[in-house]
Amino acid sequence: MKGLILSGGKGTRLRPLTFTQAKQLVPVANKPVLFYGIEALKEAGIKEIGIIVGDTKEDIRAAVGNGDRWGIQITYIEQDQPLGLAHAVMVAEDFLGKESFVMYLGDNILKDGIKSLVKDFKKKKPNSQILLTKVPNPQMFGVAELKEGRVIRLVEKPKHPKSDLALVGVYMFDHHVFEAVKAIKPSWRNELEITDAIQYLVEKGYEVQPHLVTDWWKDTGKIEDILDANRLILQSIEGKNLGQVDKESKINGQVMLEKEVKVERSIIRGPSIIGRGTEIKDSYIGPFSSIQKNCRIINSEIECSIVMQDSEICDVGTRIDESLIGREVSISKCPPKPSVYRFMVGDKSKIEIK
Ligand code: TTP
Repeated sequence: MKGLILSGGKGTRLRPLTFTQAKQLVPVANKPVLFYGIEALKEAGIKEIGIIVGDTKEDIRAAVGNGDRWGIQITYIEQDQPLGLAHAVMVAEDFLGKESFVMYLGDNILKDGIKSLVKDFKKKKPNSQILLTKVPNPQMFGVAELKEGRVIRLVEKPKHPKSDLALVGVYMFDHHVFEAVKAIKPSWRNELEITDAIQYLVEKGYEVQPHLVTDWWKDTGKIEDILDANRLILQSIEGKNLGQVDKESKINGQVMLEKEVKVERSIIRGPSIIGRGTEIKDSYIGPFSSIQKNCRIINSEIECSIVMQDSEICDVGTRIDESLIGREVSISKCPPKPSVYRFMVGDKSKIEIK
């Protein structure tokens, strides 16, 4: 069985970050989202993975490499334009050949991984297996209708959903899916939709098996979901101190301090992770914070946030909360009010506050 990870796309919901970086490389607990997918496939015993890449191909290649670090083989497959998930399957046909495969959306994280799902698929050998989860707002998702445990209909973002079972970003197919992706027509948003391809399989009498996901799953396409995923992943982090902490500082709970981290006169509450070479002085780092490498947090307070590498936050008088801060960002000074800041700041932005 092969793996196909989709790491192209437009990433419009994560602008401005996605003007300068691939959304699949946004760090969650200081690890690119995409790596969670690669590791989930590897853990399920998949050794050959094709990664669909678009405009951000160079960055993805530079970050992921050839797969050696995971002991797997990675092939990059270029998609000229992000014309939809089913289009991505179409361009991967030469790579996939006649083998069954797991298709994994590169911005998704599943807590439990996919080991048991792949096992189930290999055992029952349906033509396709889709993952479903109950959601409170099915209008926002691809939704499946089931009858007697079988999938009878799939609708993309229905106005009047017939169930609350949303499609999770992991799918399994045998080669019949190529017949489907070639037969369907682009949707109103001019994309070849994977829901339409699966609907085609259902209509042609191919077996599409549903699998309910009960533990958490996150599509990190939006800032709130990235911060949620960050919280969920940090919940199981183990504390370790490889850096230097002075006597006036306090580290509480599960805090991972990487090498060359310097903490002076500060409080850090876990779960949180601080990347290599980052300096924290006269500051408070609250729970659910992920600060990447080579940042400087000086005389400031931050929690429930992600700060990407080489950024600097100095003298910000109000606590920064639920923020996603890009690379090489500088935030300095601050007024006494309002009492909370919310940021979504692109790479190399500079914010100066009176
Ligand atoms: P989406 O998040 O559905 O689409 P998008 O990346 O274009 O984002 P937005 O809606 O914010 O504009 O895509 C899910 C995953 O699939 C994501 O990792 C990008 C990838 N993808 C492709 O590789 N090729 C495509 O043609 C599309 C649409 C998505």
